[in-house]
Amino acid sequence: PIPVIIDCDTGVDDALALLFAVRHPGLDLRAVTCVAGNTDVDGVVRNTLTVLEQAGAPDIPVGRGAERPLLEPARPAEHVHGADGMGDLGLPAPARTASELDAVALLRREILASPRPVTLIPTAPLTNIALLLRTHPEVTRNIERIVFMGGAVATGNATPVAEFNVWHDPEAAAILLTAGVPITMYGLDVFMRVVMEAPDVHRLRASRDPGTRLAGELLAHRPTAVGEEPEAEEAGGLGDAGAVCAVADPDGITTRLLPVEVCLAPGAARGQTIVDRRPRHGESEIHGGRREQALVDVALDVDVARYLKLYLDTVERP
Ligand code: BDR
Ligand code: CA
Repeated sequence: PIPVIIDCDTGVDDALALLFAVRHPGLDLRAVTCVAGNTDVDGVVRNTLTVLEQAGAPDIPVGRGAERPLLEPARPAEHVHGADGMGDLGLPAPARTASELDAVALLRREILASPRPVTLIPTAPLTNIALLLRTHPEVTRNIERIVFMGGAVATGNATPVAEFNVWHDPEAAAILLTAGVPITMYGLDVFMRVVMEAPDVHRLRASRDPGTRLAGELLAHRPTAVGEEPEAEEAGGLGDAGAVCAVADPDGITTRLLPVEVCLAPGAARGQTIVDRRPRHGESEIHGGRREQALVDVALDVDVARYLKLYLDTVERP
């Protein structure tokens, strides 16, 4: 299996991502690290520990990370993810607490200890990852690649042009993009499209397995679904879980290697990922040596049916 670490802000759809990663036989989830985003970092740690317990994986180490972005105050998304950051489902408190190591120390330890290079999957603001890269740059030698949920080619969600994870900590995202390791951007353009149909959500909710049932409850909360028809009552977006699907089954997305730059300037465009899709200009500017512009594998299309089936097959696995 591929060794992976998820850095998250659990988070309704981060929880869906964790449930999938724990159950997919091709993935070896070595640790989970938490960062302020959808809710405050202590809420993220609590939600993450609870989800791992419900998923039957109570031994995976969980690290508490940054309380706030590098420059700005935290701006939680309770209007999307509920007051507890995970849909206010009334889940039990976890039985354990986070690791003694903080997120950056845990990331470093697990990356360097892994016998095979690790794939990092950030599904949250990139504060922990930026701190890791700046504090322990030697970790890049054992990182296979970073597949992050964040950014957008077209339309944003936190603002008209900026996606929440990048918008919440744009400087951290800029550090990630220039890390010098292969990066895949699983942005809103594909994220928004993978939406599960109501009958499948119903079936998950009716499961006797607590982890499977939790996936159904979270999907029914459907914080990330868009363009729903009124009859699609309980349809729900996979959201962050799609980024983990993209690691388990990379052929389900179509990517292109493109220059990407984060807008760091104050004002209406702050946090926008500017993706250069021009056929030739991009190249000449890279050769002209613009430092902020990184080449990133940008997901431009997704096989929706394929990822929905993959998600169901994995999460309904006994
Ligand atoms: C991202 O922001 C959060 O609300 C979700 O968990 C996802 O990671 C979408 O912009
Ligand atoms: Ca998230």
